[in-house]
Amino acid sequence: DKDQYILGIETSCDETAAAIIKNGREIVANVVSSQIDSHKRFGGVVPEIASRHHVEQLTIVFEETMNKANLQFQDLDAVAVTEGPGLVGALLTGINAAKALAFSHGLPLVGVHHIAGHIYANRLVTEMKFPLLALVVSGGHTELVYMKEHASFEVIGETLDDAAGEAYDKVARTLGLPYPGGPHIDKLAHEGQPSIDLPRAWLGEGSFDFSFSGLKSAVINTLHNAKQKGIELEPKDIAASFQQSVIDVLVGKTAQAVDKYEVKQLLVAGGVAANKGLRTALNNKFANSDLELVIPPLSLCTDNAAMIAAAGSVLFEKGKRSDLSLNANPGLEL
Ligand code: KG4
Ligand code: ZN
Repeated sequence: DKDQYILGIETSCDETAAAIIKNGREIVANVVSSQIDSHKRFGGVVPEIASRHHVEQLTIVFEETMNKANLQFQDLDAVAVTEGPGLVGALLTGINAAKALAFSHGLPLVGVHHIAGHIYANRLVTEMKFPLLALVVSGGHTELVYMKEHASFEVIGETLDDAAGEAYDKVARTLGLPYPGGPHIDKLAHEGQPSIDLPRAWLGEGSFDFSFSGLKSAVINTLHNAKQKGIELEPKDIAASFQQSVIDVLVGKTAQAVDKYEVKQLLVAGGVAANKGLRTALNNKFANSDLELVIPPLSLCTDNAAMIAAAGSVLFEKGKRSDLSLNANPGLEL
């Protein structure tokens, strides 16, 4: 059998990324150009700046990807691109580039959901075993997704307000830490003690939904009240207490879902999966169980195009084809 090569393209937020995957599971080339430095001084991603950077970077990223893979566009079997959710202008740059490539080289085009991509990052490290549960924790998403087979996604719980990463970034900003704040809080948390009492939003018996905006407000109020009383709170203890609250809820609800759905595997995905505290807590929780816990390496947790190609490969095999009218869908459902 001939090998299958899929080109993946990801431009939904602030990383311009392209990658080539062989036979659905093997990374041949994986290039990510980050714009974080351009957005840092604004304390978050500025959509217009993101789009302009993507336009500047995309061709350079393609060239590097093709060179690393030592392939020609004619060697590809399909082009997979993130069609949503994300920033509409940013998404359009990748989609337009994907369409141009598909059209000029006569290649099939496959639109991919960004979260499906995050989940399929796990297929680059291991075989997926169904039924499985995926905990998706990123800057824009916090979801528990049940999969009974490939390309079948059932969202059993999601955030009602802020995403976990968003809460990290907002709390970090309150503490005067740079954007993106997740890694900084993670580091500080390990130096401090979870000594400050902060809420945990369980949202009622049996709910797999999440809420982090109350926690974020509680951190802000705690800081404000302490300041008024002239009490000096240690940022490292705030970071540790905040992180503990997030982890307790993420791990607690995930464990309940694992029991209820009797899954074989738990896949962790998204930028917050890079969190050392969360990784340790999940490892401890499931170390002595039959469940197989899979957490990809950090480079596959944050936004990249290898994960889009990995999801695209499965969708392509299942017969999904997008035509040249493919459009960005910032609110695309999984
Ligand atoms: O998946 P991702 O790269 O982009 C989105 O699709 O949102 O996730 C980015 C998010 C940011 O909110 C960032 O602060 C968070 O992931 N993050 C972390 C850590 N590393 C990245 N959050 C907590 N701890 C970390 N170590
Ligand atoms: Zn993402």
